[in-house]
Amino acid sequence: MSTNTITINGKERYYEPAPHDIDVENFRKVITSRRSVRKFTQKPIPQAVLDDCLDMALLAPCSSGLQQWEFYVVRSADKKAKLVKACMSQLAAKTAAELIVCVARTDRIDDFAKQMLREWPMPDVPPLVKRYYQLIPYNYSSGPLNSFAYAKKAAFALGGLVAAVPRGPYTKSEVELWAAKSTALACENLVLAFRAHGFDTCMMEGFDAARVSKLLHLKDGAFPIMVIGAGERADDGVFWPQVRFDRKLFVHEV
Ligand SMILES: Cc1cc2nc3c(=O)[nH]c(=O)nc-3n(C[C@H](O)[C@H](O)[C@H](O)COP(=O)(O)O)c2cc1C
Repeated sequence: MSTNTITINGKERYYEPAPHDIDVENFRKVITSRRSVRKFTQKPIPQAVLDDCLDMALLAPCSSGLQQWEFYVVRSADKKAKLVKACMSQLAAKTAAELIVCVARTDRIDDFAKQMLREWPMPDVPPLVKRYYQLIPYNYSSGPLNSFAYAKKAAFALGGLVAAVPRGPYTKSEVELWAAKSTALACENLVLAFRAHGFDTCMMEGFDAARVSKLLHLKDGAFPIMVIGAGERADDGVFWPQVRFDRKLFVHEV
């Protein structure tokens, strides 16, 4: 539990100053040298590096702080062979030192909302925060055949005529998208962390989700969003230069 506090306008506030000694050029090097690597050498990734990268993945931002992700490091030779096949035997999967299945979960929302209140990192949970997490089960439950979802959608659409309202996620698929968004952010942290440690990755969504779910015994409410192959980049592991279209297509100041 953190005890850092600062007094602002006579009120005691939590204090976490931003560090200013970060080397942006090294950060840029991590970002710009990350490429999708389709061929890895046989060099293993040390366990400490793997753990550090996974720990950095878990620090990604996540909607409502609910940590919608899960990472399965597939270690058994039998499971790995099956996973490679489920990844359509892509070279990136076949040659990777490690294969990590990134799973998004919508079935732990209520439990994690309760856990958040139990593990709140300060002595008192602010009343608004308490209310927020108490309401989470209602916010994200779609009900049988999306019945709650459509009722909420209609109610908020009406309210939306006079004020700004949340327009979702309400339906099962919207809640899945919600979970996938946060999980994808953790995936990005993971691949950048590998790069910072001198290793490389390939994110893959070219896989048979039904086979991967079966392999990992995933239950309803848990679904794989990508498989990440990781290892040391082979000399011919990047197949072509990076392609990015004109910035003007993507960045708008309005
Ligand atoms: C969600 C996602 C899924 C991807 N799936 C695959 C895949 O199945 N196989 C593959 O070789 N590359 C895959 N890629 C890698 C992309 O093809 C690659 O990121 C893109 O071509 C840009 O190249 P770069 O990553 O080297 O910048 C995927 C990337 C993302 C973000």
